[in-house]
Amino acid sequence: MTTPSRRHVLGATGVAAAGAATGAVAGAGAGWAAGRSSGGDASGTPGAGTVGASTLDAAVPFRGTHQAGIVTPAQDRLHFVALDVVTKDRDELARMLQEWTRAAERMTAGAEASPGGLVGGGPYRAPADTGEAYGLAASGLTITIGYGPSLFDDRFGLAHRRPEGLRDLPAFRGDALDPRRSGGDLCIQACANDPQVAVHAVRNLVRLGFGVVSVRWSQLGFGRTSSTSTTQATPRNMFGFKDGTANIKAEEADALTEHVWVAPGDEPGTASTGGAWMAGGSYLVARRIRMHIEVWDRSTLQDQEDTIGRDKKDGAPLGQSGEHAEPDFARAGPDGAPAIPLASHVRLAHPSNLGGVRILRRGYNFTDGTDGVGHLDAGLFFIAFVRDVQKQFVPMQRALAAKDALNEYVEHTGSAVFACPPGLKDGEHWGQALFA
Ligand code: HEM
Repeated sequence: MTTPSRRHVLGATGVAAAGAATGAVAGAGAGWAAGRSSGGDASGTPGAGTVGASTLDAAVPFRGTHQAGIVTPAQDRLHFVALDVVTKDRDELARMLQEWTRAAERMTAGAEASPGGLVGGGPYRAPADTGEAYGLAASGLTITIGYGPSLFDDRFGLAHRRPEGLRDLPAFRGDALDPRRSGGDLCIQACANDPQVAVHAVRNLVRLGFGVVSVRWSQLGFGRTSSTSTTQATPRNMFGFKDGTANIKAEEADALTEHVWVAPGDEPGTASTGGAWMAGGSYLVARRIRMHIEVWDRSTLQDQEDTIGRDKKDGAPLGQSGEHAEPDFARAGPDGAPAIPLASHVRLAHPSNLGGVRILRRGYNFTDGTDGVGHLDAGLFFIAFVRDVQKQFVPMQRALAAKDALNEYVEHTGSAVFACPPGLKDGEHWGQALFA
């Protein structure tokens, strides 16, 4: 089977027809591969950009109960942007969200942002697709949007629609936040298995939003640091440790209901008042965490393992064997002290230390050049999805900020929180429920 390329896949017939023609599969994370020759142009000639078919090339369904990009098995690449709305016109904003929906649906299916976007507008118009993903496969692209607390100020008449759960985060001990890497009215999280596809998606949405939004900050991630499905191997973070072992996984339906999805009734309101529109959505917490890798790289293996509380090679809880063994916090080490140290990261972040709280982590490694004084500016772009920020992320981060041995090596340099609305049914578009 071959995979859809973003050449004229959806050009004349539209997304629905293409979905039908290619046999779209429902369900979070399920992908499909089209029967069209990849890289082929309108005449059916395979193009130079022909790509081989693989599950990494396949498309992820755009519509569903929840937005894609949350429990979707984490792709390898990220482009995340936070945007400020620069128009004062509510209708312009609503219109842009509608246009974003059309373009996002097309791009996630492996098509150009608009029909015939590359050259179809003719020689005298700016092309409606920027072109750098032309010929590339859908690459598992997901586009997830969120609304920041500042969107609900008095500019667009949305103050009465703000979910109570959407509030700026409190300050945490040790925060070194840069306001130029924090906050935002809107966010777009684009994840894909090809970085060019993720960047293309963000670029084209920003382009469509010209005059309505401007980019406030942006973050590229080059490797996932979490698995979000039991079908995935656990990746490693920039400290060389397996990260995501104890994460909530897509297959844990009860845990998702309890810890990730906003439930009907969580937010007071009706279809036109309050934050009831968030049911089926989730809150996204983003923290840009600089990791002082040069300091870490000079610390001993034992220090590193004691800091995390897990074995570096296999990811097993200290004193135990097997990555997925449930940590035994009562177990003593050879010196009689707890095998998993009291200040270790996994001990402090474990649900048993936090009244049962869990979160879904979906972060990415980053390296943003140097810090100007001879070190790599590297770290973890931490992303978590939670049902209730105040009850889940806030107490967890407070516990970590107070005592985590990891604090010697990390610094939080950016922060934001967004309300990610639920998924879209056929015919619906982003912003529809919010502006109702
Ligand atoms: C650069 C910063 C961080 C690094 C390097 C890091 C690394 C790790 C590693 C290696 C693990 C063990 C494997 C696993 O279960 O995934 C882990 C677990 C975990 N981390 Fe982090 N982490 C960081 C920041 C955070 C932050 C900011 C939070 C939340 C506020 C967090 C929450 C968790 C949770 C909930 C677990 C699972 C605990 C369990 O149930 O066993 N981490 N982290």
